[in-house]
Amino acid sequence: MAGRLDGKVALITGATGGIGAATAELFAREGARLVLTDRYEVALENLAARLTEHGAEILTARLDVSSAQNWSDAVTAVRERFGALHVLVTLAGVVDWPGIEATTEDGWDHVIAVNQTGTWLAMRAVMPLLRESTNASIVTTSSVLGLIGSGAAAAYQASKGAVRLLSKTAAVEYATRGVRVNSVHPGVVATPMIQHILDEQGDRQPDIARTPMRRAARPEEIAPAYLFLASDESSYMTGSELVIDGGMTAH
Ligand SMILES: NC(=O)c1ccc[n+]([C@@H]2O[C@H](COP(=O)([O-])OP(=O)(O)OC[C@H]3O[C@@H](n4cnc5c(N)ncnc54)[C@H](O)[C@@H]3O)[C@@H](O)[C@H]2O)c1
Repeated sequence: MAGRLDGKVALITGATGGIGAATAELFAREGARLVLTDRYEVALENLAARLTEHGAEILTARLDVSSAQNWSDAVTAVRERFGALHVLVTLAGVVDWPGIEATTEDGWDHVIAVNQTGTWLAMRAVMPLLRESTNASIVTTSSVLGLIGSGAAAAYQASKGAVRLLSKTAAVEYATRGVRVNSVHPGVVATPMIQHILDEQGDRQPDIARTPMRRAARPEEIAPAYLFLASDESSYMTGSELVIDGGMTAH
């Protein structure tokens, strides 16, 4: 049976994380050739070994998304191995919970470097390869916290709001140049990023309490959004925000 990503090469950042691994697995099942990137070599190798069982062709690259040099090296490796790139999915991310006054400069700088600067560096590095493919898609990761205020996580909220508009301006800039750009906005997702909070607070966790569905998503419930936006099924979508939040922002 034809896969929804047959013939496409997709690079995923934060690939060994909760949503990243679920997305990589789905992409592999749908026929993509994958460039899996994250900070740690061993986790990447373990994920690659698991996905190779689906018959996927995989390149792994240790990559800190906030390093322009790492991006340049990764693009060279993709050119050498596949000679093309059709999809970029940015899922690398870090969170810092304090509000305006408790946020430190180091905390702020780190979150902005990874979430915000990292997304721009990714776009800048891969754009030449994507433009060559003439039918490419970038799927970035913002959050419901890129749409509404929570009263905490000042740096995270600022970075995710920036990702939202960076994606829109890139969508406009490249709309006639063969690259679509859309952002995904998950609500509460049970991944290593927040699992300790969910374990401690359960249903009393404030973001769960204000989610009409009253539960966190599983990463497998978020991954299909990336598949849809990466595939040609979304060929007329660019500059859009896909919200998957159990209804959190509906009220
Ligand atoms: N979990 C949630 O509730 C939730 C909600 C909305 C948005 N998001 C976003 O979804 C994305 C994926 O998060 P997740 O929930 O799967 O968390 P996660 O912690 O499981 O995964 C994040 C991944 O990013 C990687 N990473 C961190 N810093 C990096 C760097 N400098 N360079 C490269 N990789 C780096 C980590 O190694 C990890 O694999 C993030 O952007 C996060 O902000 C998560």
